[in-house]
Amino acid sequence: QAADDYQQMEHAAKFFAHQLRRHANAPKVIDYLKGRGLSGEVVKAFQIGYAPDGWDDLLKTLGKGQGSRDQLVDLKLVNRNDNGRYYDFFRDRVMFPIRDRRGRVVGFGGRILEGDGPKYLNSPETRVFHKGRELYGFYEVKQAHRQIEQIVIVEGYMDVVALAQAGIDFAVASLGTATTTDQLQMLFRATRKVVCCYDGDRAGRDAAWRALENALPLLTDGLELSFLFLPDGEDPDSLVRQEGAEAFTARLAQAQSFTSYFFSHLSEQLDLASDSGRAALLNQAKPLIERIASDYYREALLAELARLLRREVSQVAAQVRQAKATT
Ligand code: GTP
Ligand code: MN
Ligand code: MN
Ligand code: MN
Ligand code: MN
Repeated sequence: QAADDYQQMEHAAKFFAHQLRRHANAPKVIDYLKGRGLSGEVVKAFQIGYAPDGWDDLLKTLGKGQGSRDQLVDLKLVNRNDNGRYYDFFRDRVMFPIRDRRGRVVGFGGRILEGDGPKYLNSPETRVFHKGRELYGFYEVKQAHRQIEQIVIVEGYMDVVALAQAGIDFAVASLGTATTTDQLQMLFRATRKVVCCYDGDRAGRDAAWRALENALPLLTDGLELSFLFLPDGEDPDSLVRQEGAEAFTARLAQAQSFTSYFFSHLSEQLDLASDSGRAALLNQAKPLIERIASDYYREALLAELARLLRREVSQVAAQVRQAKATT
C-alpha cells in the first residue's frame, strides 16, 4: 500500500507538470511564472505544475476504478462532498510538489493564480505526509551539493524557488508552520550551519524566535544557527529579485549570531541600566539556558549574560543551576 501511495503521488506530480505543457490555461500560468522571474529550467527542476480549473481532471485521469479513487481520497488529492460527489482538492492552482528526504513526493502546495480564496492550499496530513517532519526543497538541496556548507530556512515555496533561480540553491521552507525541532534536527544532520531567514513582518519575527526556542536542545559545539532579518515588507523572494544574488549572499554572511539574537530579543523591552531590568533578563534567560544541551553554548550564553548583568560568570552560573534544581 505505502509503496503504491508514493507511486500515486508521483503520478499526480507528473499530471500537474504535464498540464503546464498541455492545458488550455497553460499560457496564462506560464505568464504568471515568468512574471515572477522563473525560468523554464527552474520550473522543471522543482517540477512545478498546474492543477486544472475543472472539477475532476485529476480524478478522471488517476482515479479509474474504486480502489484508486479511494486512494486519491486518502492522499487528500480528491475530496468527497456531502452529496457523495468526488472532486479534485487542488483546482486552478500553481502546484509545488513536496518531496521527502529520499525524493518521494509526499504532498503539494498549491498557489492561487488570482481571485478569491486562500493564497496557498497545502496537502493535509496523510499516511505519507507529516508536515512538521518535511522541508520543502531539502531533497533538491541534497541533490545539488555533495557537501552542504549552509542551509537557509525560509517560509515559502516561492522563496526557495526564487533563491534557486538566483543561484542560491541551498534554501528550504518549513511549510508555513513554525520550524520544528524535528526539522532543525534534519538540517543539522546535513550541515553545520543553518540560517533562519523569514519574512520581514510580525509573523516572520515570531517564527524566528520560535525556531530559536526549538533549536535549544539541539545546538552543540560546532553547529551554528544564525538569523537574517529582512527589511519590513520584504521576503527572500522579493529581496533577491530586487537586490540580486550577490547582495543577498552578503546579507547571509552578516546574519545575526544565535547568542546576539538571544540577548537582543530578551532585552528588547528591558532597561539593563536598572536593577529591575537586569533581574528580569536573568529570570527570562534562566529557563531557556537550562534547555541547552551542550556545555559549549551554555557557557557562551552564561558569559554574555554575566557581562550584561555586570556580574561574575560563576555567580550567574550558580543561579542558573539553582533554577534547574528547583524546576
Ligand atoms: P507569494 O505571495 O507567492 O510570494 O507567497 P509567500 O510565500 O510570500 O506567502 P506568505 O509569506 O504569505 O506565506 C508563507 C507561507 O505560508 C506560504 O509559502 C505557505 O506555505 C503558507 N501560507 C501562505 N498563505 C497561506 C494560506 O492562505 N493558507 C495556508 N494554509 N498557508 C498559507
Ligand atoms: Mn551551489
Ligand atoms: Mn509573511
Ligand atoms: Mn512571504
Ligand atoms: Mn512572497
